[in-house]
Amino acid sequence: MKTKGFIFDLDGVIVDTAKYHFLAWKNLANSLGFDFTEIQNEQLKGVSRVESLKKILAWGNTTVSDEKFQELMALKNTEYLEFINKMDDSEILPDVPRVLDYLIEIKQGVSLGSASKNARTILEKVHLLSKFKTIVDGNDVSKAKPDPEVFLNAAKSLNIKPEDCVVFEDSVAGIQAANTAHMVSIGIGSKDVLHEADYIFNDFTEISTEFINKIINN
Ligand code: BG6
Ligand code: MG
Repeated sequence: MKTKGFIFDLDGVIVDTAKYHFLAWKNLANSLGFDFTEIQNEQLKGVSRVESLKKILAWGNTTVSDEKFQELMALKNTEYLEFINKMDDSEILPDVPRVLDYLIEIKQGVSLGSASKNARTILEKVHLLSKFKTIVDGNDVSKAKPDPEVFLNAAKSLNIKPEDCVVFEDSVAGIQAANTAHMVSIGIGSKDVLHEADYIFNDFTEISTEFINKIINN
């Protein structure tokens, strides 16, 4: 069997932290006197913390000083971490461990490619840190998705060519990043949102070992 690189996004793919990001951002926006919708929130998925705050402030027609900007970033993360600290294995999305264990068993490269600076903390909380051969997260990149930097770095860390890598992503920005990196993109979520992906599944329960074997041997 060939060896390919399987790169997992974290938020929305391995764990449903999107709801915690949304709550923390929503509270922050509300404290500034405005609100934003779940549809707008879709545009924040996969997007770095800095870029997310820029978008939110623009939606609220609000400008702040650089100092205040940093303060708001810290506030959001403090509240987000309160949710994260309560997480445990029960928040791992269905069948993620099955797919991870299968890939490890058949000796494929397994890496994390996340925009989050909290990625290691979250993987530790849900006891999945040891499953990843390498981790590339928000601390290692300078360009946010849809730039392919995070996935290209993950491929490099696995010593596998980008064309031989497969990305699991729940965000539009992440699918675009994978496509730009010439990787196979697998959308986890709704077909309406992720139509640019090469393959789309509602969740990992729909991903069979036959499908994985087919992708590897392609
Ligand atoms: C991505 C999330 O994985 O990480 C975004 O989809 C989030 O919503 C980004 O803004 C950065 O995360 P963090 O944990 O560094 O604020
Ligand atoms: Mg995501």
